[in-house]
Amino acid sequence: MISIQEAIGYVEQYVRVEILHERNFSVEVDALLTASLAGLIPSVQVASGCTKGVFIFTDADFVIKVPYRGYKDPFTNSESASGWDYCEREEELYIAAEKFGVSQFLARTWRVGEINNHPVYAQERITEIGHFYVWDDIYYAAPQKVVNQADKFSQSPINDKTGFFPTVLVPMISAYGYRACQKFARFCKQMNVGTDWHYGNFGMTFDGNIMFCDYSGYRG
Ligand SMILES: Nc1ncnc2c1ncn2[C@@H]1O[C@H](COP(=O)(O)OP(=O)(O)O)[C@@H](O)[C@H]1O
Ligand SMILES: [Mg+2]
Repeated sequence: MISIQEAIGYVEQYVRVEILHERNFSVEVDALLTASLAGLIPSVQVASGCTKGVFIFTDADFVIKVPYRGYKDPFTNSESASGWDYCEREEELYIAAEKFGVSQFLARTWRVGEINNHPVYAQERITEIGHFYVWDDIYYAAPQKVVNQADKFSQSPINDKTGFFPTVLVPMISAYGYRACQKFARFCKQMNVGTDWHYGNFGMTFDGNIMFCDYSGYRG
């Protein structure tokens, strides 16, 4: 298992993190992937969305996340996070979720250092992100009671602002129960987390706990 510091070292060596951007992501990470394929560094995959670049080392239970600098649509309603660093926003939200008693729904994010004055974070690694067939299987195997609860939940006012998708509601209710999910939705509303709760931001840890990996929201 490689350490977080080793992983940061490989990213630092091969990626100019300060210029990472979704538009050019594959070009910017090309040297890292080439080194990985050539066996010069441990096997790594990269992923990205609108706000972050993500480095997933095969032999690790964490991922390295890098927020894109200069992002034009800052999140709002944050106590302390800077407004552009979407990983900092996740770190802040995770701490708030612990206090609220709902952190089981979120993969922990924490700052692990800087590369060229650019902040770098680690996050608990999860799998099956976006694998709709996994979530569909859980959905279709769920007891009727849970499906009814998910229907009730998605129609209740608490879901207006949070917008959980049914594909994630059934696994969430199965894992944590209806009341805990309502509590999590109240937390999201209170913290103005936004509406990004689809199965492309959702997965499970290697020991089977389901959670979101992307909870910085989008455009506040
Ligand atoms: N904790 C994680 N474990 C495994 N893969 C992850 C993790 N976090 C993110 N990823 C991958 O990186 C992608 C982008 O990360 P995400 O946090 O969703 O950022 P964005 O805000 O840019 O969508 C995800 O869609 C997923 O494929
Ligand atoms: Mg995402």
